[in-house]
Amino acid sequence: MTNKVHVGLLGLGTVGGGVFKTIRSNRERIRLRTGADVEITRILVRDMEKERHLDVAAELLTLNREDLLGDERITVFIEVMGGLEPARTIITEALRSGRHVITANKELMAKHGAQLLEEAAANGVHLLFEGSVAGGIPIIHLLQGYLTANRVYAISGILNGTCNYILTEMAKTGREYAAILQDAQELGYAEADPASDVEGHDAAYKLAILTNLAYDARVNVEGIERQGITELRAADIALAEGFGYRVKLVGTSREQDGTAQLSVRPRLLPLSHPLAGIDDVFNAVTIEADVVGELTFIGRGAGEFPTASAVLEDLTKLLQGESAIRRPAWRSCPDESRSAAVCGNFYLAFDGPGEDAVVQELNLLEAALAKAGAAVADRRLLEDGSVWRHAWLIGGVTEQELRAVLAPCLQTADLAAKYLLLPVDGPLAAGVEWKAETSHHEVSVTYPRAL
Ligand SMILES: NC(=O)c1ccc[n+]([C@@H]2O[C@H](COP(=O)([O-])OP(=O)(O)OC[C@H]3O[C@@H](n4cnc5c(N)ncnc54)[C@H](OP(=O)(O)O)[C@@H]3O)[C@@H](O)[C@H]2O)c1
Repeated sequence: MTNKVHVGLLGLGTVGGGVFKTIRSNRERIRLRTGADVEITRILVRDMEKERHLDVAAELLTLNREDLLGDERITVFIEVMGGLEPARTIITEALRSGRHVITANKELMAKHGAQLLEEAAANGVHLLFEGSVAGGIPIIHLLQGYLTANRVYAISGILNGTCNYILTEMAKTGREYAAILQDAQELGYAEADPASDVEGHDAAYKLAILTNLAYDARVNVEGIERQGITELRAADIALAEGFGYRVKLVGTSREQDGTAQLSVRPRLLPLSHPLAGIDDVFNAVTIEADVVGELTFIGRGAGEFPTASAVLEDLTKLLQGESAIRRPAWRSCPDESRSAAVCGNFYLAFDGPGEDAVVQELNLLEAALAKAGAAVADRRLLEDGSVWRHAWLIGGVTEQELRAVLAPCLQTADLAAKYLLLPVDGPLAAGVEWKAETSHHEVSVTYPRAL
């Protein structure tokens, strides 16, 4: 027997349009598989005059949220408006009135997900949010409904397609960040205001949501260590490639002894790393768990249809009933500790004149690093316009110690005080020949070693 399900759609933009079109195109398939005939009954928008490239009846659209909340036929709300308000208030009202809610709103779920899930539980309804992380990749379903016997202890992911596109293009073309960002905006891969993406906020929201699910935790998203991609230069990407690494913006979350370390930073990944080959706008998430081991999922992390797919698979789970959904409990509060106190490997880069002019400063730096117990595994130099980019691979030191050593050394003479420090994953390849590269030719340079 077919049961009619009335849906209230909050927002008809990129994702809302994808949801609207897919319900239309795949309605019969959904009916055959779930026994429910899904109908979009009302749609909340902000601007009635806006031109929409959709075959949508004008009477479905409204500016008044009460037209949806007050319609008792609607049993499921799909929130694809974005932002904190009025989305939070409308979702709360929908849950309190006994309706299920599906949302793709990562900022809202990262900042207020715990309270909204409590609200859903208190009212005996569901709040589902697969579309909020990594677009079409069913990573929330995996963490929420599948990996139940496993203890997940680490997550790492390329969680922002805009940044991944920019970094991929910088590596492929050698062009600088600003020029590629402009291309990305023209192609629709980046917002007019790209700050949330390129400063790492968007990836931090997604990492917080995954961490909450994986460790039954309640992460303070503001406490996540965060470094965006805006300071990276094409020279850094080329130097990292020369060392044998790819640069990717990676969200990492590791649980150990009741504490969780979370960070979103550009990282140097060895070519063998599962995330190193994920290019363009693709997302990927790697999970490490005690029984299953390492799992990696790859897919389109954003866009009209990948996100609509995630939203609609939440809907089909709802239609299939309770057994398809396990409610998460974001209960415990692990201490968030910063990775600055953890011993690791780093890429260090700074501008300066050519090698001869700064040998003394570099020797001073090496001596200070050695005193701090750090090892220099490799050094490279690249001519970058009017300056030289000096890059070092340093291991066996914490970031705190490294920054303490760098500050006085890099203030001297010709080396710029502003330096770039990125974490390096995997073991350092030691003993690589020291090379200097110009834009036209590569020359070997011998640095006098002062150690
Ligand atoms: N775009 C993606 O690829 C993607 C991927 C994953 C998750 N998400 C998430 O999905 C959500 C929607 O993103 P989107 O890209 O589809 O956004 P969008 O294209 O800007 O669409 C937003 C829609 O919500 C409506 N809206 C916004 N504020 C409103 C208000 N105060 N009252 C009534 N209607 C309002 C807008 O109405 P008008 O049309 O009248 O302006 C528009 O239809 C966000 O939370 C986003 O983070 C997006």
